[in-house]
Amino acid sequence: MDFHGIRLPDKENIIVPGKKLSAGTNANVFEWGTGKVIKIFKASYPLELIDTEYYNALAVKQFPFKKSIPVELKKTEFGYGIVYEKIQGENLIDYISRTGDLKGAALKMAELQRSINKVQLDPEKTGALPTAHEVLRKKMAESPKADSDATREMIRFLGTMKDGNVLCHGNLSVDNVMLTDDGPCALSASGYCIGNTLYDIAKSFYLIAYSPLPGEGAEKCAFCGKFSDMEVRKEFGRHYLNAMGHTATEIGYYLSMVIAGL
Ligand SMILES: Nc1ncnc2c1ncn2[C@@H]1O[C@H](COP(=O)(O)OP(=O)(O)OP(=O)(O)O)[C@@H](O)[C@H]1O
Ligand SMILES: [Mg+2]
Repeated sequence: MDFHGIRLPDKENIIVPGKKLSAGTNANVFEWGTGKVIKIFKASYPLELIDTEYYNALAVKQFPFKKSIPVELKKTEFGYGIVYEKIQGENLIDYISRTGDLKGAALKMAELQRSINKVQLDPEKTGALPTAHEVLRKKMAESPKADSDATREMIRFLGTMKDGNVLCHGNLSVDNVMLTDDGPCALSASGYCIGNTLYDIAKSFYLIAYSPLPGEGAEKCAFCGKFSDMEVRKEFGRHYLNAMGHTATEIGYYLSMVIAGL
């Protein structure tokens, strides 16, 4: 039986979530049977965004870069979830905390991002994914500052900018990269879109240097280790920009728009 496109629990074959691998703002990730994990979303998280993540993950599955492979949407007694194949490796946050190697970590993240941005797509023919400009316009139009002169001007200016045609991850930061024996691998499929590499770099730079990490809030992030320190994050951001071969000035327009969309 299906509910909102999500398969209801199989009464004959109940799988109970295993070890908790992470606690995020919107979801918790648990081991799920053999070789799989389940990302169970919190009750407050909108169902359509769970669908978006799942269908984005399916849309990019065919492309030649390393990423988390979706298995199915699932309704469990603990909430709605997406089952993914389990990735064996170390999260980039843990790598940074263990080694302090910010430059090496930035090179790994840049290597992964370049492999994603290498995928070229025709937005007219790839209906499953939005364009980066659509994402930015929607976020700015729905932000609490939508009616300010600055935001209106940015939306107008966005309309004059040429959108790109490469696959952007849209949510690539240290918590969404796993280091495997086979190279760095991308997690989280909620932000995939088609756009300009500079948009993807600006979004990552914002996530690295400005945004709270999952679990960060009033209390310090329990698993962020060295990465809780803002100075460390800014330094990592500088290494990351260097590794991507771009400057803060070059990503400035997109960075301002990402921030205007908060
Ligand atoms: N397929 C997987 N295999 C192994 N570990 C995983 C997998 N997916 C997620 N994890 C672990 O769970 C953590 C959280 O996963 P994920 O990034 O998907 O959730 P989130 O941070 O709550 O959501 P999002 O990044 O989409 O906002 C990861 O940082 C990683 O440590
Ligand atoms: Mg994440």
